Amino acid sequence: MHDTLLLFGATGDLAQRYLFPSLLRLLGDGLLPEDFKVRALALSPHDTEGFREILRPRLQQAHPLATAQDIESLLQRIDYRSVDLRNADSVAEAVSGLVDRHCVSYLAIPPGLYISTCEGLAKGGALAAPHRLMLEKPIGSDSESAEQILTTIGGWIDEDRVFRLDHYLGKAAVQNLIALRFGNTLLEAVWNRNYIESVHILVAESEGVDGRDAYYARSGALRDMIQSHILQLLCLVAMEPPASLEADRIRDEKVKVLRSLRPLDAANAARDSVRGRYTAGTINGQPAQAYQPPEGSDVETFAGVTAHIDNWRWTGVPFHLVTGKRLPERTSRVVVTLKPVTHWLFERPHRGQATPNRLVFQLQPQENIELGLMSSLAGPEWGALELQPLELELSVPTGLHRRIAYERLFLDAFNGNHALFVRDDEVRAAWHWIDSVADAWKNARLPLQPYPAGQWGPEAAADFLPGDVLADASDGQA
Ligand code: BG6
Repeated sequence: MHDTLLLFGATGDLAQRYLFPSLLRLLGDGLLPEDFKVRALALSPHDTEGFREILRPRLQQAHPLATAQDIESLLQRIDYRSVDLRNADSVAEAVSGLVDRHCVSYLAIPPGLYISTCEGLAKGGALAAPHRLMLEKPIGSDSESAEQILTTIGGWIDEDRVFRLDHYLGKAAVQNLIALRFGNTLLEAVWNRNYIESVHILVAESEGVDGRDAYYARSGALRDMIQSHILQLLCLVAMEPPASLEADRIRDEKVKVLRSLRPLDAANAARDSVRGRYTAGTINGQPAQAYQPPEGSDVETFAGVTAHIDNWRWTGVPFHLVTGKRLPERTSRVVVTLKPVTHWLFERPHRGQATPNRLVFQLQPQENIELGLMSSLAGPEWGALELQPLELELSVPTGLHRRIAYERLFLDAFNGNHALFVRDDEVRAAWHWIDSVADAWKNARLPLQPYPAGQWGPEAAADFLPGDVLADASDGQA
């Protein structure tokens, strides 16, 4: 197992809130190598002791059940180096003394710094075999910048030692989509255009952009969420069964889905997409401010796009992809709506008024599965059967200790398992489709629609988020 982590962006929000606490949990569970070491790297001019002082309370806060002994044990394994990521020599210098170990470099930094940082890593010998590289999303901001990152870094390190993260793939509930789809006969039988009317994939957040303005002003909901997390969910829902669970067999199937996505055309932009930005409003009774991006930025905080997958299984089935910030609550769900029954026998409700069967995979905040059926609940006299919608709800047992996404992803990268990481061709195919959406928006001059914080997006989003897709959403906590 690799035993040394070079963590770039160590003072950033991601590292402090998720990455170090994940390492602490893994350490507490005895899952890290005995001689595990972390070199924390960032621009700020701390020394090692100063950095540990900053990190200690953050660890206590993020993992209140951790023992003081485990916290100290982790802190003692960390040393800190200040580094200028724009300067390859500074990076090479900052990783010196460690390259005789098995290193994993983790870049929790803006993608604009990936190339110079990797140049420095290559100079310092930290990208040669057996060293590994973990890269946060997004890889670039469009096809062109992604290609530049992929090919330049690809000249320094082989694909089989690169681990591109999409932390949604590390979530147990997301992995369960694979288990549910391919571990049950029931679903596969109806999992195609003959039985499925539409699919909605919703990732709603009640949080705003807060504190990430510089990144968000260049990104927006389409590039921040749909390009990565939502397209990954789409792949898991729509892909063909892989031949095995081997990483490349799964990734082969995902990339086929991405390559089957029909590019969005400017002529259909207004019908097949919507973009919005939150204004001031109220969330959970608390006032929330409007998002005001810097001059010159035109980014959306809400995006809805209908994706069409042109292949044998899915032609004609719309996949509505929706995400937004400052929505009434945090909820992620995949809603699969089935076609109406072929021949309707019942008087009540009339044909056309029956609720279609619906399968809901609720991914967060809590994980459950709901199945909507039509059923005769009472026992009326024969001949006047009255049907009513019935919801079957299955809570997925979560066990006592569920690993958070980054714990799982660290372990997999240290162990060299690529199944939950994004391959270079997936990145290319995802950007190819996202570029078509961004271009269509630009060419059609699709207006940015305002919505008050605390509402389910702009009015025009109602077609993307019908009431039955949102039904029960209020069961979740924001
Ligand atoms: C990140 C996005 O990748 O995912 C954020 O950059 C977003 O904008 C976050 O808030 C959502 O992750 P989660 O796990 O809280 O749903």
